Amino acid sequence: MEKHSTNTVWHHATVNRSRREVMNGHKSAVLWFTGLSGAGKSTLAHAVEERLYHLGCRTFVLDGDNVRQGLCGDLGFSDQDRQENIRRIAEVAKLMLESGLITLTAFISPFRAERQYARNLVPHGDFIEIYCNCDLAICEQRDVKGLYRKARQGDIPLFTGISSPYEVPEKPDLYIDTGISDLGECVERVLSVLELRGVINMPA
Ligand code: ADX
Repeated sequence: MEKHSTNTVWHHATVNRSRREVMNGHKSAVLWFTGLSGAGKSTLAHAVEERLYHLGCRTFVLDGDNVRQGLCGDLGFSDQDRQENIRRIAEVAKLMLESGLITLTAFISPFRAERQYARNLVPHGDFIEIYCNCDLAICEQRDVKGLYRKARQGDIPLFTGISSPYEVPEKPDLYIDTGISDLGECVERVLSVLELRGVINMPA
């Protein structure tokens, strides 16, 4: 990104992240769900959020389809636009981390470099990459939004998995087979990682 905002000075808040975390009773974190369209990223992110809500945690889900209707409504699906999409989301996630929230992002985020960029923006350990692995064949069979059929017919160019690449994470913090695993099981695996990382304390 070409920077145009010169002569700006960061203003430090007195109500900072650690004070917010004390007030919330949990740490903040970025849970970065990545995977093909239809792999179950949003479904899993929202199901995890539901569990966290019942545990009294403060959360927010940033979802690709939603964010692309507003903040990223000017972006398409070229490699460059996807990079910019993820750059913006990474910056928003960073702000949300400071605000004390557990942020769950559900974007295809197909490129390793941009996922690494998002990880590098926040302190070490606060970024939890969750790879939602689901075979293309299963995503296509589900075709919840009918987009794979359109992409196969040539009506949607640059469709991830068909005419645009997806770079599988090499070392995700969590690998989940969303194609074959039960949703409840997937949710528990995410919660276990949050507990292990000290983000939340599960009631005994
Ligand atoms: S990303 O590649 O930039 O991370 P993002 O997660 O924001 O993608 O948006 C993906 C969603 O946009 C998909 O779930 C699908 O509903 C929709 N979509 C529309 N066109 C495409 C396309 N060409 N490739 C992938 N998803 C698309």
